[in-house]
Amino acid sequence: MVNVKSTGEILGATIEDLDLSKPISDQDIEIVMRALGEYGVLRFPGQQLSAQDLKSFSSRFGELEINVANAYQAPGHPEVMILSNMKEDGKPIGLQDAGQSWHTDMSYSKMIAFANVLHGIKIPRRNGVPLGSTEFCNMHAAYEDLPAELKTRLDGMTALHDFNKFWEMMRREKGSARPPLTEAQRKAKPPVSHPVFLTHPITGRKVLYANPGYTVRINELPEKESEETLEFLFAHQVQDKYRYAFRWTEGDVLMWENFGTIHNAVADYGSDEHRLILRCQVMANRFFGNAANVAAA
Ligand code: SIN
Repeated sequence: MVNVKSTGEILGATIEDLDLSKPISDQDIEIVMRALGEYGVLRFPGQQLSAQDLKSFSSRFGELEINVANAYQAPGHPEVMILSNMKEDGKPIGLQDAGQSWHTDMSYSKMIAFANVLHGIKIPRRNGVPLGSTEFCNMHAAYEDLPAELKTRLDGMTALHDFNKFWEMMRREKGSARPPLTEAQRKAKPPVSHPVFLTHPITGRKVLYANPGYTVRINELPEKESEETLEFLFAHQVQDKYRYAFRWTEGDVLMWENFGTIHNAVADYGSDEHRLILRCQVMANRFFGNAANVAAA
């Protein structure tokens, strides 16, 4: 029987007794699903997974995404993306600045993302201390703490999410090597709307489904009121009391669900302090069936 051990913090639990390179029973997958709802973020330490193993485990939870950037894929496995600051023959082997600001993966997509599954191959360390943590905030708690008046006012409203917002922010603020999105890439991911408050499909509770990375507008509010409300929500949701920092060890598999959390990859390491992570993204079709159902949730 799989044992799920809480971190005792606002998010996070550890599952030690599963070898993710081996076939996993439906019963154990169900335990992982429930733990994702309850704790948001899960750590499976001491794993040794190939790209194929990571893909096989991740696909037990739903359809896998092939990233719109269409680059830095593990050879032969387009669903597995390489996140890294390492270079080979002077060329980057992975996406160097993935997720380095608060956001929710794939909130810009008609079909939103359910879960991310990352495998840590190389983790930078300075004086023995691991760098490059992945931080999370708890969106169940952030919703619950909103002023009652705001909960009532925003109930049933929708927010617009734009892939280009985060992309441009990375280009501007992090001085990254990302080129501007091509016309074709922008067309492939036009801005989309989702409920500001989403009913979490595992817990059945409401969460705040807006994030500083991709959310650009609350559709039903006049522009200025939308701006002020988003500014309030963005400041509210990243308060220390909602935060949990995941500190990596080589061999970790880190899995989180994207409805009840937002996250931020902390870029506190230098170009010669190497980080190498493999990542799969699981889409939410199993809960919402088709994109129209996300908007109706
Ligand atoms: C991500 O946003 O998926 C990247 C997280 C990380 O590299 O820590």
